Amino acid sequence: MTKKETGDITEDLLRLGEEKTIFAKYGLSRNPFPSQELPRVPDIAEYVKSVCIAVREKELHEIKEKFLDIAFGGNATNLWIHGELGVGKSAVIIFIYNLLREHKSDIVVPLYIVSPGNGIDDIYDETVRQLGGGFFVKLGQKLLAKVIARHEELIHSDTPKEIIAKIEEDSSNIEILIEKEILNVDELISKALLELSEGHIYVDDKMIKLVLQMLTNYEKSWDFIKNYPKKDRLDGLVTLFYLFRVAGYYMTFLFIDQLEYSWRIWSKTKKDRFVMDVRELVQRSIPYLSVLCTSNIDLTEDINVNYPTLLRPLPMNPGRVVVVKSLSKGQMRQLVEFYLNLARVSKSSPELYPFTESAIDLIYDRCNGVTGHILIVCFELLNYAARKNLEIIDEEIVRKWYEQKKVEEETGRKEEEKRIRIREEDLLR
Ligand SMILES: Nc1ncnc2c1ncn2[C@@H]1O[C@H](COP(=O)(O)OP(=O)(O)OP(=O)(O)O)[C@@H](O)[C@H]1O
Ligand SMILES: [Mg+2]
Repeated sequence: MTKKETGDITEDLLRLGEEKTIFAKYGLSRNPFPSQELPRVPDIAEYVKSVCIAVREKELHEIKEKFLDIAFGGNATNLWIHGELGVGKSAVIIFIYNLLREHKSDIVVPLYIVSPGNGIDDIYDETVRQLGGGFFVKLGQKLLAKVIARHEELIHSDTPKEIIAKIEEDSSNIEILIEKEILNVDELISKALLELSEGHIYVDDKMIKLVLQMLTNYEKSWDFIKNYPKKDRLDGLVTLFYLFRVAGYYMTFLFIDQLEYSWRIWSKTKKDRFVMDVRELVQRSIPYLSVLCTSNIDLTEDINVNYPTLLRPLPMNPGRVVVVKSLSKGQMRQLVEFYLNLARVSKSSPELYPFTESAIDLIYDRCNGVTGHILIVCFELLNYAARKNLEIIDEEIVRKWYEQKKVEEETGRKEEEKRIRIREEDLLR
């Protein structure tokens, strides 16, 4: 069989059921563009599949140099990601977070928090939720393994060295050793508690105990960790970050995205509270916590002028800021092509088809180069073209669509005004 024939059958197979979608005529299985501005990110691994790295190489290099290289070098640090609304900040940091989670979670602990409306309370909740019960069991095992290795007297066996080797090989063996009564759980926990808290004034003994008890009393301990008293959550978090380090993770990465969403609705008291809490959290976790925050221009200005205390733990000097700029027209075309490829069935379609280059450039101008807006216009235009059975989407179609949208908005506005007038007249009657 020739290569051509193989290619043909693959294309044929991929076309199965294609006529069911209105996008098939463009060689697409669906409309691949995001339908709303704020990406919903219920599944991070799924979301990053639609993040195009090629257009953000410069920013990613800069984030690596200014932030990741330092943190992976063992020094806690921080970074601010600045950028206009909808430019693509979240896309970049979610990509990095996912990379750390998928490839580095044996040595670091990455956490991604979106808009912590209730401050530390939400950061705590998300930390616990994202890591999950399994992680906490593993954490307990790792901590106990370290203590056992230092205290042979805890091992009730004639061959303690062998037992230690067994635990080093796999710390989950601790549970079997407890069952066999080679280790005594009460002895173990009280020794570990003493060792882990001694000399550490900031740590919360209650949290350490709960983590250690995850091995033997899972349901109750996990339930308590999840419902930790609100007033103790700052101490709880500080303790967790400390325990991560002792267990062998040498850095915790805390990514705080969309802070401006909460910031905008917070009262001055709430902002003050958040600033104080973050300062406490960072200062008490200094050697092993690196924080990355995104912020738009409004937030940056407000912090600089009214909340400079936040800049003590999280400095905002040029070495700690990466600006995510608007994409160029060329990069935007690259991004549109990337999205189209996510749904391309027929590999023989031209790159931007059904869009023309100049159509994309025009959309770019109309949206002032804002990534989020451009992609939504592409989404809507592709739906429009498919429904109308248009061959291509060129400048003329884009202009027509904008005009129609304007008319629709105008009519919508007039109808709304009419509705209000009728309601007012009704009231006056
Ligand atoms: N590099 C990229 N690859 C794929 N999609 C992207 C990329 N950059 C941005 N987008 C998409 O554009 C939209 C806006 O991007 P994003 O939410 O990351 O911007 P933002 O700067 O975080 O916005 P906001 O100011 O609202 O927080 C989203 O739908 C996002 O998925
Ligand atoms: Mg964002």
